[in-house]
Amino acid sequence: MDKFLIQGGQPLEGRIAASGAKNSALPVLAACLLTAEKVTLDRIPQVRDIATMERLLKHAGAQVTRRNGQVTVDAATIAHPEAPYEVVKTMRASSLVLGPLVARCGRARVSLPGGCAIGARPINLHVAGLERLGAVVRQEHGYIEAEAPHGLTGAEVTFDRISVTGTEDLLMAAVLARGETVIHNAACEPEVADVAALLIKMGARIEGAGTSTIRVQGVDRLHGTPPGTAHAIIPDRIEAGTFLIAGALTAGDLTVTDCEPEHLRALIAKLNEAGAEVTEPAQGQGRSIRVRSKGKLKSVDMTTQEHPGFPTDLQAQFMALMTQADGIAMITETIFENRFMHVQELARMGANIRLEGRRALVAGPTRLSGAQVIASDLRASASLVLAALAAAGETLIDRVYHIDRGYEKIEAKLAGVGARIKRVK
Ligand code: EPZ
Repeated sequence: MDKFLIQGGQPLEGRIAASGAKNSALPVLAACLLTAEKVTLDRIPQVRDIATMERLLKHAGAQVTRRNGQVTVDAATIAHPEAPYEVVKTMRASSLVLGPLVARCGRARVSLPGGCAIGARPINLHVAGLERLGAVVRQEHGYIEAEAPHGLTGAEVTFDRISVTGTEDLLMAAVLARGETVIHNAACEPEVADVAALLIKMGARIEGAGTSTIRVQGVDRLHGTPPGTAHAIIPDRIEAGTFLIAGALTAGDLTVTDCEPEHLRALIAKLNEAGAEVTEPAQGQGRSIRVRSKGKLKSVDMTTQEHPGFPTDLQAQFMALMTQADGIAMITETIFENRFMHVQELARMGANIRLEGRRALVAGPTRLSGAQVIASDLRASASLVLAALAAAGETLIDRVYHIDRGYEKIEAKLAGVGARIKRVK
């Protein structure tokens, strides 16, 4: 298992580019199952979760080819409309093939995801949505068996609670259903709007994606992306946000390029409130965000919420920042029931954090010192990298495969702006 060896204390300075969004690439790749024609995608990041999704598509029977940063999916025939346990247990987002497979093939067999480090994470809302469109769903031997032999029928669907992939799964089923589907209490994450943008290019009729009410007029079939064109997915707002926090935490001067400031309003506001200086330098074609900090930070409270609120996927990283802020920061996690796995590891580096249910009280500033720590889930691991960059001395982070799930070439990107980080076998 690879490890990261990090020498802390180096301010991050210069420019660092965001890659395409992992959480957009996942539903966008699943959407390719909806057509027998080729779909070409751009800015698909080379991270483990994407490799897992590509494996799923090939298992179903699609051809997946990658050429200079572009990925083409050819799902002309789908021999096995299923997602096997050995794949799903490594990535719960595998459930994103459920809607497309039922819509395209009239049936799907998808392993129930195991739990994961951050919570139970059932897919009951995905199933309930498909049942509203007329699918008959059984559960046996740890698998969801969904059938709609006569196709799906549009309906009004209201989500009990907001679910990002639940919304995406249902949207991808609704585009081929007969008649109109209206999705209420839909997730508003930019990644939902991105997969809708691709579906519309493929001939789907969708209004309101990115808002809490999405209206879909079903069509008979979808076509691929027009020859010679590719759908470029949105930048990864969580990767970009992780880098912005790293810039503030190391008292650096860091510009994140190829990102979308509109997707990071909640984080930008919190960083400014904490005393960092965040600006949006106009430059060339892409969008960028610059963060500067003199190292004097103020503790600020933060509560995670669905988009456009503060993203739960940046909670652990923000907590690492608050260990260096002056005062007490109250961090409240409202999305997942167990997303404080990073707290014990940060405490081993010297952080002063008290847990009370879904609340974490972070007292700062505390001097962090390098230590041997273990990564647990994708974003908790990112917070350990950030803490190590600010800690005195050397930190060894084990199980960095968690980080490789969602951060493309992270050690090269960070080393490029002054971090002393290297991957050791
Ligand atoms: C997506 O997960 C993201 N993953 C997660 O990012 C992100 O943390 C999460 O949304 C919240 O923003 C992808 O987009 C691939 P949810 P998702 O359904 O869709 C409960 C990362 O680090 N729920 O919005 O699985 C669920 O347990 C990952 O990149 C049900 O109860 O999250 C959670 O408490 C981690 N039943 C809440 O809803 C369901 O059927 C929100 O989950 C579905 C969800």
